[in-house]
Amino acid sequence: MASSTIPERMRAIRVPETGEIDVISAQDIAVPEPGADEVLIKVSWAGVNYIDTYQRSGLYTLPLPFTAGMEAAGKVVKVGKDADDSSLKVGDAVAAYALGAYAEYMTVKREKVVKLPDGVSEKDGATAILQGLTAWTLLHEAYQVKKGDTILIHAAAGGVGLLLCQMASYLGATVIGTVSTEEKAALAKSNGASHVINSKSGGAAVVDEVLKLTKGEGVQGIYDGVGKDTWEDDFKMIARKGTIVSFGNASGAVPPFPVLKLAAKNTKVVRPTLNNSIHTRQELETYSAQLFDLLAKNLVKLRVHKEYPFSAEGVQQTQKDITSRATTGKLLIKVQH
Ligand SMILES: NC(=O)c1ccc[n+]([C@@H]2O[C@H](COP(=O)([O-])OP(=O)(O)OC[C@H]3O[C@@H](n4cnc5c(N)ncnc54)[C@H](OP(=O)(O)O)[C@@H]3O)[C@@H](O)[C@H]2O)c1
Repeated sequence: MASSTIPERMRAIRVPETGEIDVISAQDIAVPEPGADEVLIKVSWAGVNYIDTYQRSGLYTLPLPFTAGMEAAGKVVKVGKDADDSSLKVGDAVAAYALGAYAEYMTVKREKVVKLPDGVSEKDGATAILQGLTAWTLLHEAYQVKKGDTILIHAAAGGVGLLLCQMASYLGATVIGTVSTEEKAALAKSNGASHVINSKSGGAAVVDEVLKLTKGEGVQGIYDGVGKDTWEDDFKMIARKGTIVSFGNASGAVPPFPVLKLAAKNTKVVRPTLNNSIHTRQELETYSAQLFDLLAKNLVKLRVHKEYPFSAEGVQQTQKDITSRATTGKLLIKVQH
């Protein structure tokens, strides 16, 4: 099944070698042919994620060269023969998370593609699918938040952070957030955080404040996408039998640590990735239906920081901005309309 108007060539934003931001370049390449279990998507919007910077710098290794971008929404234009089970058809609006989103067309395994329901636009799909599913699965699988818990969310005004704040408060937790500016503090509060601590005052001040707020007990769960800079202090703020969820490396990778470190408070440490939390099509269908329901009911609101042009300079700027700590919410690239 194919749309008749697929061109032979397209523009894509590529990483030919790992390095600094200027390795990112635009190239004219062949439109990929979907494999039997894949779908070809004409990309309308692509979502920016911190992982883009790890893949470009080489912190996460990928075969080179590669087309950048991990999240997109657009229209199905071709369906591979094994993926053609009548659940998706040419013209359907979909969202997907897979490598290669910064391109006019991308191929994606069927199990990583979800049809957008009425009421969720392609723009919302590209804004929400990766960070929304990440936040929702972290709160259900990495440490399952319970009503009455007090939890700590680092970088609470970021893309994943704002979603975590809204979802965790909806699930009945008291949220303490850390952020680096007063403007971000106000935003985290308006998105469900009960208390926000400015991390610029230093790690010791954050620890003191969290222990004060929890009467010395610490928090039941810590959601940490900052990594290296917050790792040691997490152990001072976690409650006995609590769970530290390390899910990212914005300040650098977490160093190796002795397992005996966990014995002091029977601490659990988990290091989840979205690709392992959601691996099967059934998992994707279940979790994305829950995410779309939260959006439809306005229980979770999306915040777009800025839209960027679909060009090498545009993608370079997204990586400058997301690593500058000056962004809040989602960065988006308008690919084509
Ligand atoms: N495991 C997974 O499957 C998965 C999926 C999606 C995202 N993630 C991770 O989730 C985290 C958040 O991703 P995101 O895309 O939503 O990014 P983001 O939170 O919008 O941006 C990163 C934030 O980290 C904070 N930060 C603290 N120290 C930093 C430093 N030294 N350099 C840069 N930023 C620093 C900044 O907030 P403040 O200035 O307020 O501190 C910054 O705004 C990342 O670590 C990402 O890799 C993981």
